[in-house]
Amino acid sequence: MITPAVRTLATELTGDDLPAYVYDLAALRAHARAVRDALPPGLELYYAAKANPAPAVLQALAPHVTGYEVASGGEVEHVRTTVPGAPLAFGGPGKTEGELRRALTLGVERFHVESEQELRLLAWVAQDAGIPAVDVLLRVNLPVAGDELGGAALAMGGRPSPFGLDPEAVERCLPLLSADSGSPLRLRGIHAHLASGLDAPAQVAVAAAIADWAAKLSGRHGLGLTEVNVGGGMGVDYAHPDRRFDWAAYGQGMADLALRHPGLTLRIEPGRALTVHCGWYVTEVLDIKHSGGEAFAVVRGGTHHLRTPATKQHDQPFQVLPMDTGNTGNTGNTGNTGNTGDPGDTWTRPWARPAVRAEPVTLVGQLCTPKDVLASRIPVEELRVGDRVAFAMAGAYAWNISHHDFLMHPRPGFHYLEE
Ligand SMILES: Cc1ncc(COP(=O)(O)O)c(C=O)c1O
Repeated sequence: MITPAVRTLATELTGDDLPAYVYDLAALRAHARAVRDALPPGLELYYAAKANPAPAVLQALAPHVTGYEVASGGEVEHVRTTVPGAPLAFGGPGKTEGELRRALTLGVERFHVESEQELRLLAWVAQDAGIPAVDVLLRVNLPVAGDELGGAALAMGGRPSPFGLDPEAVERCLPLLSADSGSPLRLRGIHAHLASGLDAPAQVAVAAAIADWAAKLSGRHGLGLTEVNVGGGMGVDYAHPDRRFDWAAYGQGMADLALRHPGLTLRIEPGRALTVHCGWYVTEVLDIKHSGGEAFAVVRGGTHHLRTPATKQHDQPFQVLPMDTGNTGNTGNTGNTGNTGDPGDTWTRPWARPAVRAEPVTLVGQLCTPKDVLASRIPVEELRVGDRVAFAMAGAYAWNISHHDFLMHPRPGFHYLEE
């Protein structure tokens, strides 16, 4: 449900101020606080900056998170500057020598190592830079079977993947990290991020499988591992924007897991489930037409700003904000001949206001591609040219994953609401 602050701004902006991303930072803070409160006190909550690295978002989260997961040299620089002093965990495949060197210079707290080559490179760069101790977690691509997931018909990890090390490869890396190897790298623990979109019981089951495996590895080799990062991927439901990941159940499950592994610090790094609900992409309907018997609404903007529905192949949830068109900034016409007959409708164009009523409509953007679809065949009570549409769940993997420059349309506005 759209928050009152976002709704007010969404209807006050002029048509030319749209599209706009509107973030409710007060709602984000309240959500992050609730997430933190649901988790056991000893569990470390990192935010995966890739979900939404906007400075206002990173800073709003700062009081509620232990640190940030970053996945490129760019994210290292950006997050370090935006939230100085916050611990960083640097993950992601294909880290370059330059990125590693810079991350070491900036004192990045944890490195998630993705391969043997990367392990050797990091040790070599650290030695070259004269850095005596670097804390690393090895990322493992661990097979987790369906029966470990409570019998769910799911199996995670273990498939061929460019991410992380196979379990046998983790074992092969251990000599490179041993105390007598002379390596500046200190193996602190294990990292895994095996799936995204899991509900709370499945997430707990995956976390348990990772922690159990890490504890056995540690015991077998006398490693004394103290950390397990079980990744992110907490599920959100784009078909039901008011449903949220069950953080209370997850927190309870993780508390039980922590009791089983008293020597291990558990860490998670969600992105989407922390920020997706705090952002809306607000736009207006420019055109409405029928083609082949189906209704289409063309909105200002499109998937070059909000790529999420195209990448995830879903309908982006939205709410129609009906507009008295006198407010849209699109006036300038005289005459009132086209009024649709609604008492509050001050449509001033000299032709009828295009509208669809009580039928499914497909919302598309302004791009010249049939892929520019934000939501398909969604029944609406009424949608008229000039009405506003607020796309929900646009606070994660939205603007920052979009192909902004395609077709050179103007960029959206950005509004960060504090209250
Ligand atoms: C290693 C790693 N950690 C955390 C995340 C965050 O995942 P999500 O936003 O689904 O929680 C990702 C996402 O790709 C990831 O690759």
